[in-house]
Amino acid sequence: MSKRIIVTVDGFSSCGKSTLARALARELGYVYIDSGAMYRAITLYFLRNNLNWNEPDQVSEALKNIELHFEPNPTTLKSEMHLNGENVEYIIRDIVVAEKVSEVAAVKEIREFAVAAQQRMGEKKGIVMDGRDIGTTVFPNAEVKIFMVADEAVRVERRFAEMYNKNPNITIEEVKANIELRDYIDSNREVSPLRKADDAIVLDNTHLTEKEQLQVALEIVKPHLV
Ligand code: DC
Repeated sequence: MSKRIIVTVDGFSSCGKSTLARALARELGYVYIDSGAMYRAITLYFLRNNLNWNEPDQVSEALKNIELHFEPNPTTLKSEMHLNGENVEYIIRDIVVAEKVSEVAAVKEIREFAVAAQQRMGEKKGIVMDGRDIGTTVFPNAEVKIFMVADEAVRVERRFAEMYNKNPNITIEEVKANIELRDYIDSNREVSPLRKADDAIVLDNTHLTEKEQLQVALEIVKPHLV
């Protein structure tokens, strides 16, 4: 049996991190964790309960009442985000959540809560996790770190196509503005900002198909499995 390792996939919004990380996990027989879904679910909780993430008391109270876990969808077998027992995988992709998630994810206590949960999920290794700070903060000793990049125009197109399916009223300008704002906040926050880990390998998928990017990633991972 090959060695079980930790693979991290970080990068800007809508670079295709989750598509790659999910495919890689399937190929390796590993668990896939979408860390962004956790910040999105926490954001949903704050919005639904009218709580202010800039008020420390409200944050600590909220975090006591939030339980997050991933569960496979019985039909697709894809792992989906559950918040306090409810499947929120689809609702957390809404633009209302996307507009606030970077602000929520910049709060120190919220990051500590999410990072601790992510580190527990990686205790047994055999995991592919995607996000912004996985290679730098969550698993600084991961065996393989991938940092994904893609041209902004391509990222906007991809995210627009994905969001348009659920909400035909959405405009490309809205999607572009949201991606640019999230990139800015994610890269400039004080606590573990988005940056490439020194030992991460850059994977530019601007001109790659899903199949091609998976092949590139497998070539990166393979030497670490023996
Ligand atoms: O990957 P995503 O777009 O679903 O992530 C949603 C937001 O969560 C993103 O704008 C920044 C935040 N995030 C983060 O701060 N750290 C992570 N490890 C993952 C996501």
